[in-house]
Amino acid sequence: MNNKTILEQVDSENPDDYIINRAGNILKNGGLVAFPTETVYGLGADGLNSNAVKKIYLAKGRPSDNPLILHISDINQLDPLVKNIPLLAEKLIKTFWPGPLTMTFEKSYIVPAITTGGLNTVAIRFPTNKIAQKIITAAKTPIAAPSANSSGKPSPTRASHVKLDLDGKIDMIIDGGATEFGLESTVIDITNDIPIILRHGAITKEMLEQAVGIVKVDKAIDNPNQTLIPKAPGMKYKHYSPKAQIIIIEGNLNSIVENINKFALISKKEGKKVGIMATEQTKQLYDNSIDIFVVGNRDKPTTIASNLFKVFREFDFLDMDIIYAESFSHNNIGAAIMNRLQKAAGYNIIKV
Ligand code: TXA
Ligand code: MG
Repeated sequence: MNNKTILEQVDSENPDDYIINRAGNILKNGGLVAFPTETVYGLGADGLNSNAVKKIYLAKGRPSDNPLILHISDINQLDPLVKNIPLLAEKLIKTFWPGPLTMTFEKSYIVPAITTGGLNTVAIRFPTNKIAQKIITAAKTPIAAPSANSSGKPSPTRASHVKLDLDGKIDMIIDGGATEFGLESTVIDITNDIPIILRHGAITKEMLEQAVGIVKVDKAIDNPNQTLIPKAPGMKYKHYSPKAQIIIIEGNLNSIVENINKFALISKKEGKKVGIMATEQTKQLYDNSIDIFVVGNRDKPTTIASNLFKVFREFDFLDMDIIYAESFSHNNIGAAIMNRLQKAAGYNIIKV
């Protein structure tokens, strides 16, 4: 498609019904609409219509073996999409839906193979964002929605990011402002007795454990070793990667700052465009000849999660060559933050 993309702004608390219905109609008729969720912007299509789903892969340039998440806005939509609902899923649904938790189920025959990248499981999520819920309800069908970025770019947390990547390739963008969490949903496999985290996200391992006991993590997702194949096909691609080389500096905060200052000045002398990914707590401590990107507040890690992809895009926009990034705790939401950061850095980590 090479048409004009309609851009509409809506109020996230009180979305305009006319615009929502217009988006719903486009989806029902096999078109593509990008809309906000509480995690990142999604690129929606009718998840039960193979032709519509095919357009998602084309617009994003996404490999066809990378399955999509089906989004629902009413718990009654779940049953027809899956072969069964395990007890474990029922517990997790009660605690975390609607919300940023995606679960994989054995798929029913009505879910087309193209939606699941040929797998016999289907990933399902019930978002909490009001705009997302209303659009899905208006479309009267489960909505397949990957993150609304071009494949290989950071997921979009603002409508302007979607426009940069997909303008002219999709029918409509609904602008509902910046997304709340800023990182994609947690994906878990619940087809066995013990749930396995396939992608870290806003619903943390600690939160899941509190709800259902033991939770495993797919060993391949935080591992640079290419011989381990992640169970979520999307995790094997070099996602979220800015053009700049990112180098993570890990250690105690004082030596992080000291070493970043040292490395950054060396790179600058070499004629590189150097930046530092810092925090509210450390921004004053760096040499003022170096560009500082403040990603958030160390005491409020959710601020780091919600700004991370925006900051990645700024690196691209400013054509940075090299970024020295402070590392963060791996606990709670830190697991998701460090997972995205390590991938963006191609696991280039210096321990100090
Ligand atoms: O927060 C989110 O989940 C956002 C918003 C829009 O909802 N969506 C999103 O979708 O991040 P996407 O397509 O960018 O990422 C989906 C991830 C991929 O890593 C994919 O491989 C995995 O979920 N996935 C999808 N279906 C799966 C399945 N049946 N089994 C294992 N992994 C699956
Ligand atoms: Mg994605």
